[in-house]
Amino acid sequence: MARERIALLGPPGAGKGTQAKLISDKTGLCHLSTGDILRDEVAHGTEIGRAAKLHMDRGDLVPDKLIIDMIHERIAKTDGFILDGFPRTVAQAEALLKITSLDLMINITLSRAEVIKRLSSRRVCRECGKIYNLLFNPPKIKTRCDLCGGELFQRDDDRPEVVDNRYDVYMQATAPLVDFYRERGLLREVDGAQPTAVVLNRIMDLLSG
Ligand code: AP5
Repeated sequence: MARERIALLGPPGAGKGTQAKLISDKTGLCHLSTGDILRDEVAHGTEIGRAAKLHMDRGDLVPDKLIIDMIHERIAKTDGFILDGFPRTVAQAEALLKITSLDLMINITLSRAEVIKRLSSRRVCRECGKIYNLLFNPPKIKTRCDLCGGELFQRDDDRPEVVDNRYDVYMQATAPLVDFYRERGLLREVDGAQPTAVVLNRIMDLLSG
């Protein structure tokens, strides 16, 4: 594979977590999700978790310094990675430049209407983290994970009023990264409204290209 330091960009619900897990399974690249790391910190009641929770519950971004300090070492000690949810502001993108370079930034696009539909029907396994969708990728039993039997739950920030704010925050703080990476020749776009397998094939083509 030609590209081994990649990042996924896109609005909430575009499919970044779904695709990052599939790519990681296929390639062995390390999946680094700032959202997953933060939710783990919250679940364990750590200092970082307590500082982040207030922002996450509202659908706002966690302050740049906290995020950069949290992810810096994980990136620095990993050779090949898929970043999911980082960078998310120009300040974070500039901090990343000081840690390592990216081979590719893949922007998964999705309309606001589709984001709202997907997030209101997302369910996640409490045990293994597998992501489901009651409309598009339903589990066999509505409340249980197909893989491990763990309980499926709805994320606190998938409530409709929080999703609205998350989308606005994305447009204001994160969408400028599209130009940031386009200007550097690193941006590729994938239509996230296509079926999961089609999106994955397109990304795999980009990674080997
Ligand atoms: P984070 O967890 O990163 O949330 P997000 O970026 O809003 O993205 P999501 O996880 O909601 O969506 P996704 O694109 O991964 O989609 P998924 O694959 O699940 O961040 C949460 C919070 O943490 C932030 O709001 C912020 O507070 C904080 N945070 C995190 N990183 C930060 C940072 N760098 N700086 C500051 N704050 C930060 O798919 C969604 C649904 O659609 C699922 O149900 C899935 O099954 C379904 N689906 C996926 N693909 C398809 C498809 N092709 N067709 C049909 N359905 C599909």
